[in-house]
Amino acid sequence: MKKLNSFFLTLSLSALASGVYAQERSKMFYATMGTQDALELKENHPNDVKIIKSVNENSAVMLNEHSAEELHHTGLRHGPGYFYKTSEKAAIETIVKANSIQKAKALTKSAIPFQITQDQLVNQSLNLVNNTNIDRHIRELENYGTRFHTMSSARRASTDLKAKWERLAGNRSDVSVRLVNHSGSPMPSVIMTITGTEKPNEYVVVGGHLDSTSPSNQNDAPGADDNASGIATITEAARVLFSMNYRPKRTVEFMAFAAEEIGLVGSQEIARDYKNRNVNIVSYVQLDMTNYKGSSQDVFITNDSYNSTSLNNFLRQLMDHYNASGTHKITYGTSACNYGCSDHHSFAQQGYETAFPFEASFNESNPRIHTSGDTSSIFPTPNATHAAKFAKLALEYLIEVSNAGSGGDPNPTGYCASNGKKTSDEYISKVALGTINKTSAAGSGGYSDFTAETTNLSKGRSHTITVTPTWTGSTYDEAYAVWIDYNQDNDFADSGELVWSKAASRTTPVSGNFTVPSSAKTGSTRMRVSMKYNAIPTSCESFEYGEVEDYTVVIGSKVSSNPDAHTTEEGNAPCIGAAPYNSSANYQFNDRVTYQGKLYERTANGWGHIGLCKTFAKSSNVDLLRDDSSLFDFNPNPVTEDHIEITVNNELWKSGSIWVVDTNGNIVQEIRLKSKATQVNTSKLSSGVYFLALFNGSKSFTKQMIIK
Ligand code: BES
Ligand code: ZN
Repeated sequence: MKKLNSFFLTLSLSALASGVYAQERSKMFYATMGTQDALELKENHPNDVKIIKSVNENSAVMLNEHSAEELHHTGLRHGPGYFYKTSEKAAIETIVKANSIQKAKALTKSAIPFQITQDQLVNQSLNLVNNTNIDRHIRELENYGTRFHTMSSARRASTDLKAKWERLAGNRSDVSVRLVNHSGSPMPSVIMTITGTEKPNEYVVVGGHLDSTSPSNQNDAPGADDNASGIATITEAARVLFSMNYRPKRTVEFMAFAAEEIGLVGSQEIARDYKNRNVNIVSYVQLDMTNYKGSSQDVFITNDSYNSTSLNNFLRQLMDHYNASGTHKITYGTSACNYGCSDHHSFAQQGYETAFPFEASFNESNPRIHTSGDTSSIFPTPNATHAAKFAKLALEYLIEVSNAGSGGDPNPTGYCASNGKKTSDEYISKVALGTINKTSAAGSGGYSDFTAETTNLSKGRSHTITVTPTWTGSTYDEAYAVWIDYNQDNDFADSGELVWSKAASRTTPVSGNFTVPSSAKTGSTRMRVSMKYNAIPTSCESFEYGEVEDYTVVIGSKVSSNPDAHTTEEGNAPCIGAAPYNSSANYQFNDRVTYQGKLYERTANGWGHIGLCKTFAKSSNVDLLRDDSSLFDFNPNPVTEDHIEITVNNELWKSGSIWVVDTNGNIVQEIRLKSKATQVNTSKLSSGVYFLALFNGSKSFTKQMIIK
């Protein structure tokens, strides 16, 4: 009886509660926000927020005026603290997409080997930075009175900046400046492009917003720090590059956005457009508020989850390398916005790698922004010396990333040059080691910079390298040598760094084994492969006949010891001791995880794919994959409907997967094959070019897919 009573009591109480709730809900709207914030809000205002669904860091919620107001006033948050959504479906779709973008990013090795190789150019650039230019430019922008996006002064600020950037570029034919008009604002954004000399389709971008705001946003939004400072900083970096006559290998872009203050409007339209056009932005760095030194350290790297951990680490690495002491000293800390606080969020949402180095810790940043008091007069340090540090960091980032590991440089920075003077009789046509499987023609000048090709190598493990020579006519005796810069001191001269050599012979291909010593330094380093006619070459030699090629290898620590160590290359053994990937874990360098049957290792550049946990049936699968375009088919292509049908024409469907990879190398979808023919929903893929990749563990076969 007692039991029954309390049952009724509970029932009626909850009915009452849901009645009240229903009333409140009538004023509610949909939104997405951080899960942590949503939980806090729920605890303090249980009736004003409903959490519909949480996927890791993000939640789809319903809010009302009270909770929205509360969010706005919490702490030092300037933005709304949530993203408005028109429907429950839109809110859920947003958090699911954010999660899959994050997962794909975590699993994809960055396309750029984040290595420091441009010491000479970067050091030259640092000495050219002039803080007084930044100070003067901030005042110039402040003098518009307001740059609120609807005001004519804001439009003028854009056209004037375009003219200023054009003047800086002089008459260089590889530079262009354009205005980008928007549907959500009368103010245009400004973009300056320096076209890359070797990889023009890879973009390295730095940006910030040009507009400003204040409560009455008419004539009193000087926006000196927010964000005249970022625009002036970017402009000074550009001026320095032009004064050096710098010609980047990748395309470099400078972006000044309109209408950031009303909800990232300019950057959102531009980021979407770039994604729709499949523009490959290799990384994006935002400069928004650079001149208010509010904390004891100089630069704060923001570690919001939508930013790229590897890009953030690279910025730290740059400051360790270039700014540890002396005139260019920069100290740094870590902070976070905890929401999509500036334009970089627009690019992160499209799956691009972003970072946002900031002027102070979030709580100690400029308290006067978005008021008429955001002027130069309140900067704690004079003459824009604080912003100048950001200009230096921007130059380090722009030069290193735009020139990283691209082909054709006969004198790779930091390493001695080596080449074969004639490749007309023989050259290296293939090098295979781990995931490196590089087929090539003779390099111009007898040298090829293939440092964009990388593989992971484990300490204490034996690895096999195979080199294939090609003779154009008669066969000659060829000798080989391979070096790895194990201690990363930019030479191949230390003991043990000649990892393999072979006396002259006409054997083809040639193979050798080497074991990575446990004393090797972990991380990315260079491997040099040299083939010389009739005698074993030395590492810095320029010899008569033959060829030299450089690669990148990433040294990882030994796999956790296990009794089956001698079988690690086979069966499930590689995955023994590695735990499944956990999206909320904080992984360190060298950690290994399994994910969907594959083994990954955390490298300096993200997750490196090491291999499959299970091997395929011991049939001749490897042969099956060889250049066989009949391996699988799919239709229609271009994809005009919301699904495709994939047919796998061999036994691989029994154990294989197909990955859908975008042009940035992000894995956007994994298709588990269940039968020879599989129907796959493609409605979530935005239009553009993708690749379908069928894997057998060591090889893959790829076909291009175009979504209309
Ligand atoms: N510069 C601010 C962002 C900011 C403020 C970052 C303080 C760190 C500390 C930016 O211009 C801005 O005001 N953003 C809006 C959000 C946006 C979605 C409208 C904001 O924070 O209110
Ligand atoms: Zn702002």
